Amino acid sequence: MILIVGGAGYIGSHLVKELIKFEKVVVLDNFSTGFHTLVDSRTILVEGNLGDENVLKYIFTNYPIKAVMHFAANSLVGESVQNPYKYYENNVSATLTLLNTMLRYNVKNFIFSSTAATYGIPTVDLIDEEQPTNPINPYGRSKLMVENILEDFSKAYGLNYIVLRYFNAAGAHESAEIGESHDPETHLIPIILQHLLGQREKISVFGTDYDTPDGTCIRDYIHVTDLATAHIKALHALLDGQKQTAVYNLGNGKGYSVKEVIETCEKVTGKHANIEFAERRPGDPARLVASSNKIFEELGWKAERNLEQIIESAWRWHQRTVKVDA
Ligand code: UFG
Repeated sequence: MILIVGGAGYIGSHLVKELIKFEKVVVLDNFSTGFHTLVDSRTILVEGNLGDENVLKYIFTNYPIKAVMHFAANSLVGESVQNPYKYYENNVSATLTLLNTMLRYNVKNFIFSSTAATYGIPTVDLIDEEQPTNPINPYGRSKLMVENILEDFSKAYGLNYIVLRYFNAAGAHESAEIGESHDPETHLIPIILQHLLGQREKISVFGTDYDTPDGTCIRDYIHVTDLATAHIKALHALLDGQKQTAVYNLGNGKGYSVKEVIETCEKVTGKHANIEFAERRPGDPARLVASSNKIFEELGWKAERNLEQIIESAWRWHQRTVKVDA
């Protein structure tokens, strides 16, 4: 049995949909940013906080958990600058309680959702795992702190772990039953699609004077189901003893500017977007593109879906979620 902390969130729920084909799953979620509609009915759902020792004891006493995957973090860069306590409290302190309780119950396999934000402002076009980690915001720092804790816990207590540094997760499950759900929504692709569905008046492009070919920020978008399959490979690598510790980037290795993403959304949907050029958003690096060669070489994983397929899947899901006034 695998414990998925944050299994009612966007990425956690997509992982559950894939993992449940192989394993029994317990989901722990406090629904602070997750949704009941995203939880697969085949899971055992426990409602509670990951920093609540009593809830964790209940789970580890009652279910034979052999590994934990942790998706339950706050992940908005701007918010982390405004309210760093929230990020250090939930992303670091509560995670420490989770790790400590796991070890007390002899659960020693852990998959951790980390982020490209740990790299800060990269100096290379393709970021591999050897690049220095210099996060420029509390969100990135909170994730890097946990990465450091994991390294120390592995040496001292024999914890096995794999850190997965996501680039820009996007897209929806092929069933279109679940997809990207945030409230409020701040991410580029859902914002564009909501606009194209008439739910937003326009799209603001944050910054047009970056040092990139068209002046807008470049990101590496990765389909959420590709992320899920990477987690399953990582889980098997831990459970089979192939790996005791590892850090991997998860991306497509190809960058798209904000303008290119908007154009691809227009192409996929056949609709025209109304754009306004706005100020830069604080904390945005100009370019974040992953090299995911390491996980391909070591675990045989690579992203299967390109930007167009990501947007097509997201579009199918967004169309289903449109509320039509009767
Ligand atoms: N953007 C706009 N207009 C919008 C929304 C976004 O121009 O209305 C731009 C942003 O400025 C950025 C790009 O689109 O340049 C992508 O922005 P997102 O908010 O979709 O994603 P981020 O790159 O800011 O962040 C995401 C996750 C982080 C993670 C990061 C890693 O939210 O948790 O990817 O690359 F750290």
